[in-house]
Amino acid sequence: MSLPSKVQLIDVGPRDGLQNEKQPVPVAVKIELVHRLQAAGLKEIEVTSFVSPKWVPQMADNAEVMAGIQRQADVRYSVLTPNVQGFEAALQTRPDEIVVFGAASEAFSRKNINCSIAESIERFAPVVQAARAAGIAVRGAMSCTVGCPYEGEIAPERVAYLAGLMKGIGVQRVDVADTIGVGTPLKVQRAIEATLQHYGIDQISGHFHDTYGQALSNTYAALQMGVRNFQSSVAGLGGCPYAKGATGNVATEDVVYLLQGLGIDTGIDLDKLVDAGAFISDHLSRKSNSRVATAILNKRTA
Ligand code: HMG
Ligand code: MG
Repeated sequence: MSLPSKVQLIDVGPRDGLQNEKQPVPVAVKIELVHRLQAAGLKEIEVTSFVSPKWVPQMADNAEVMAGIQRQADVRYSVLTPNVQGFEAALQTRPDEIVVFGAASEAFSRKNINCSIAESIERFAPVVQAARAAGIAVRGAMSCTVGCPYEGEIAPERVAYLAGLMKGIGVQRVDVADTIGVGTPLKVQRAIEATLQHYGIDQISGHFHDTYGQALSNTYAALQMGVRNFQSSVAGLGGCPYAKGATGNVATEDVVYLLQGLGIDTGIDLDKLVDAGAFISDHLSRKSNSRVATAILNKRTA
């Protein structure tokens, strides 16, 4: 068994995490979170999304957040764009990468972005074209690749189908997302295998929510297949407003601890990352979902 020697983490906390918060989070706090993540060594940060503020009011401050970040040249800042309207607004804020987001499940596609899978691809195509013409990288998030809150289990063939559609419109890399955190290692490996019909292993990232506590096992299962890009969320924040009952992404602190233990380089300073997680958890008046961060903080105060 050979595991990758280096892994790149994308922290999606400012977007996936904060999109799901009931209480409004001030722009200054979001900006500070991004600054703390980059200070901890994150080289990719999903900052916000350019979606309808009626659908997701928590992301209505997208342009202000993007404008307020002091960027580091070696960090990639990505944003979600579901359609041309979102892309045009995002373009003004100079993202390094945009993310179109589709689903392997028809029902989830309709609930989340109000259109079928086929219609979503029609909407994404001009976005992808415009982004690539502007020199902006394009990622495709694929939701519900193992299970859907409305349709139950999702067959790998449907993941392969969606990955093929994404490839066909020029999406450069894709996320295999377990939106509701129901996956277990073999199921996640099957979803990745299906994606490999259209994308190379270096163009695939794992995006695992942790509802059933399987996200670290799923991460390990993906690592065994050679996946070296993962999305995670500081303090385990996260969830999708259109996937009721789903909890946060796997915590970045927990993934970093796992990878460090395996001797895999992430370039991330775990102590600084724990501080970033404590900052946002304190702001939200909540305990971190990261077991690793909790253990490290307890040790510090012991
Ligand atoms: P729609 O209602 O079908 O859109 O929503 P529409 O084109 O008919 O427009 C209706 C209204 O929305 C119009 O305004 C538009 O201007 C406005 P009105 O005339 O009524 O005042 N509008 C927009 N405003 C701002 N930005 C835009 C935009 N587009 C239209 N981009 C739409 C379709 C896609 C916009 C809507 O369904 C939506 O915003 N959905 C977003 C849902 C979302 O953000 N979900 C969470 C992110 S995905 C996720 O978390 C999963 C992921 O983490 C992976 C995983 O875990 O699975 C990525
Ligand atoms: Mg997600």
